[in-house]
Amino acid sequence: MMTLIRPIAADRLPELLQLMPKAELHIHIEGSLEPELIFALAQRNGVRFPYANVEALRRAYAFSNLQSFLDIYYAGASVLLTEQDFYDMARAYFVKAAEDHVLHAELFFDPQTHTARGVAMDTVVKGLHRACVDAKAELGVSGLLIMCFLRHLSEEDAFATLEQALPFRDHIVGIGLDSGEVGNPPEKFARVFARCRQLGFRLVAHAGEEGPPAYVWTALDLLKVERIDHGVQSTHDAALMQRLAQDRIALTVCPLSNLKLCVFPDLASHTLGQLLAAGIAATVNSDDPAYFGGYMNDNFTRTFAALPLGAVEAYTLARNSFEASFIEPSAKQAFISQLDESFATFR
Ligand code: HPA
Ligand code: ZN
Repeated sequence: MMTLIRPIAADRLPELLQLMPKAELHIHIEGSLEPELIFALAQRNGVRFPYANVEALRRAYAFSNLQSFLDIYYAGASVLLTEQDFYDMARAYFVKAAEDHVLHAELFFDPQTHTARGVAMDTVVKGLHRACVDAKAELGVSGLLIMCFLRHLSEEDAFATLEQALPFRDHIVGIGLDSGEVGNPPEKFARVFARCRQLGFRLVAHAGEEGPPAYVWTALDLLKVERIDHGVQSTHDAALMQRLAQDRIALTVCPLSNLKLCVFPDLASHTLGQLLAAGIAATVNSDDPAYFGGYMNDNFTRTFAALPLGAVEAYTLARNSFEASFIEPSAKQAFISQLDESFATFR
């Protein structure tokens, strides 16, 4: 059932966007590592970090495309060594999420970035899982973990990573695919995704961020993913737009990421409104908030300020985020009821 959404004055929209309950489905937890925490962890762990200070690092956050970001993002992650480091990183994110009324978050993590440096899978997953348990108990935010394969590495490497993760099967709800997209199409990972499917993991993949609509098609048809991360290039393919709408495939859109990585020249050119108007289950997410200039609420308020979107779109995006989440049905219903209540009582 769709709640009747009353129109609200434009000047009340930021408050509504902030207060409405929402889920975040596209957050790389390593991308939530703020420069201050990078330097604190570098010092705690005695890791040499190739920037003089927080300001120098922040100045380097001027990206021209995805790869120019990934180079700095992987350097930032090199300060993470202990279980407590992973816990502290995720805890800081959950605190921000709670402030933005995120009731549920699905955290991507990139184990290959860490295992390649000699950090054990056990260290990574235990730290992140403990942060999820505590976030629920202490902040009221529920969290699930999605393990991503790095697509610039081989499928063989992904299989080895899957093997290392199997002892923690119960702590990982799904599998994703990230890192440099162009030249690393979904089909490169068809076998390992088939295996993950057999094992009962939920499946997602980055596709159509910088790559062509063809990558969205193969993510759906060969990898059999349930959601597409980004997917904004889909607007260039009318048949794909129809497919996404008809099959209710959610897109986890990240407006400030797209802006920082020059996918769109400005937020006014963003196609979020077009995706919603086509009946596609788009959601708003932060991707790598420490690098892209904002968490969930920043993404919502800046995008709504730049585009002709209002209360109906706000409700639709929040509702889509719960509908497309991997939480169990009864929890999903409870979240949607909270969302309906917040719109019914907003004055
Ligand atoms: N795209 C691909 N890989 C990533 C991203 C992204 O936006 N963020 C972190 N890893
Ligand atoms: Zn991403």
